[in-house]
Amino acid sequence: MAQLCLCLTGSTLAENLRALDMYRGRIDLAELRADCLDPNEVFHIRSFPELAGIPTILSVRRRADGGYFDDGEGARLVVFAKGLAFASRDRRLNFAYVDIEQDFRIPALEEAARTFGTRIIRSRYCPAGLPEDLDEIWTDLSRDPYEIPKLAAVLRGIGETRRLFEFADRLPDTEHIVSGMGEYGFCFRILTSRTGSLINYASPSLAGLPSAAPGQATAEEYENVYRWRKIRKDYSVFGILGGPSVLGSLSPSLHNAGYAELGMPAVYLPFPSDSLEQFLALAEELGVRGFSVTVPFKEKILPYLTERAPEVSAIGACNTVVRTPSGWYGTNTDAAGFERSVLDFLKRPDLKGVRTAIIGAGGSARAVAYALQKLGASACVVNRGMNKAKQLAERHGFEWAGMNERAVELLGRYNDLIVQTTSVGMEGGVPGDPLEWYEFTGSEALVDIIYNPKETPVMRRAREAGCAVANGLGMLRAQGEVQFELFTGKKYPGLPFGDVV
Ligand code: ATR
Repeated sequence: MAQLCLCLTGSTLAENLRALDMYRGRIDLAELRADCLDPNEVFHIRSFPELAGIPTILSVRRRADGGYFDDGEGARLVVFAKGLAFASRDRRLNFAYVDIEQDFRIPALEEAARTFGTRIIRSRYCPAGLPEDLDEIWTDLSRDPYEIPKLAAVLRGIGETRRLFEFADRLPDTEHIVSGMGEYGFCFRILTSRTGSLINYASPSLAGLPSAAPGQATAEEYENVYRWRKIRKDYSVFGILGGPSVLGSLSPSLHNAGYAELGMPAVYLPFPSDSLEQFLALAEELGVRGFSVTVPFKEKILPYLTERAPEVSAIGACNTVVRTPSGWYGTNTDAAGFERSVLDFLKRPDLKGVRTAIIGAGGSARAVAYALQKLGASACVVNRGMNKAKQLAERHGFEWAGMNERAVELLGRYNDLIVQTTSVGMEGGVPGDPLEWYEFTGSEALVDIIYNPKETPVMRRAREAGCAVANGLGMLRAQGEVQFELFTGKKYPGLPFGDVV
C-alpha cells in the first residue's frame, strides 16, 4: 500500500511545521527539502523528525536535480550529516529515510544512516524525459538491498507515460519508488495501484508553499477527487483525453464522485496528450474502458473509431469513446447534454414552436443545432463568418445570417430562446458581448454555454433586462451524466449540483 508524502518546500522549519499541521491525518510521511531552507535553518534540521511527529525523509536536491542547492557536493555532505543522528546517546527521533542521489555514493554517510536506522532512498532524477537505458539505471539503483531504489522522471509526452507504465509493470514485487513528473505523469502518480510505488508525493497547496515538482497533485486532489487510497489494481480505468488543459477539467470530479456514490470500483483520470496514437497505446496498456474527448482531439479521433453513433457524423465531432469487443465506439453527448439541460431550464418536454437563435457556428453550435432540430424547435444561425452560418443552417433547414442587418431582423423573429455558443466572453478568450447590437426585451430566455466565468457580459445584460438566464454548467454536467451512463451502464446518482460541478 503506497504512502502519501507531503513535500515541504518552506524556507524555515516553522513554516514547514505549520504546513504539516494543516495536512496531518491525510498524509503518512513528510519530506524535508533542506535545499529550500534558509542557510541558518539548516543547522537545526536534526530536530525536525521529533518536531514533525510523523516519519520524515531528508533530501538535499541540487539544482540539476530540480532543487535549489548549489553550494557544491562538500557542503551538501555536511547538510546530510547534520540531519543524521551522531551518537547512540542521541535519543531524538531520527529521519526515517534519507534520499541520496545515485551519483552521491559516500560510504561513511551510508554507514551512518545504517547505524542509526535511517533507510536510504537511492534516487535518480531525470529532468529531461525518460532515459533510454532505464533497465541499466535501475540495476544500479537497486544494487544494495538496504536501499530503496527511486526513479523520478519528468515525462515529455504521453508515449513516455506509456513506457514508464510498461517499465513499472516489469518491476519485481520489492520496495521501490517510481514517479512520473510533469503533466504527462499525472495519471501515473494516481495509479500507484499499478506501479507499485511505495511513496507518492503531494504538494501542500493549502499552506501556500511552492509545488515541489511540476504537475504534482495536491493532497486534497488525491483524496477528494481521486479517492486514491481506495484504488486497487482491478479498478476499471476511465478518463479524459485532451490537451494540457484537461488537468483543470471538472470531469474527473463529476465521474469519480459518481463511482464513489454508487460504490463502483472505477477511477477516472485526466490524460493530457500530445499524440493520439500514443494515448491509444496507453489506453490498451491500462485496459481503459472508455474516455471523454475534448480539444484538440474531438475531430482527430474520428479515424480511430470502429463504430460511430449518428450524432458523431451529424455533428462532425466525437466527445465520448467506449471500448467494445471490436474496438472503439464513438458518440457525442454534447447534443444530449444540451437537450437535457435546456428542457430542464425551460421546464418543457420538447421545444416545439420555440423560436430559437443560435449564435455561432463552430463545434458547439453544431451539437446545439442537432439537439434543437431533434426537439422540434424552429431556429436560425447567426455567425460572424457567413459561410459557416449558411452551412450549418442548411444542414438542419434553419435560416441564417452573418452579424449584419439581417441578423437584427432574424433575432426580431427568433427570440423565445437565444443560445450563445461563441467563445466571446469566455475566461481567457475574446472579451465582450457578441450580441451588443441586440436589445433584450425581458421575454427571451438566454443560454450561454460558457461556464467560466459563471456570468458573461451578455448574460448580465439579459438578466438586467429581466430575462431567464442559464450558463453552461447545466450542459456540462448533463453531457457528463450521459457519458457516465454510457461508460457504466448506470444512471448518474442525484448528487447535489455544487458538490461536483
Ligand atoms: P467551439 O468548438 O467551442 O464551438 P469553434 O469551433 O472554434 O469552437 O467555434 C468558435 C465560434 O466562436 C465560431 O462561431 C466563431 O465565429 P467564426 O466562425 O466567425 O470564427 C465564434 N467566434 C470566435 N471569436 C469571435 C469573435 N471575436 N466574434 C464573434 N464570434 C467569434
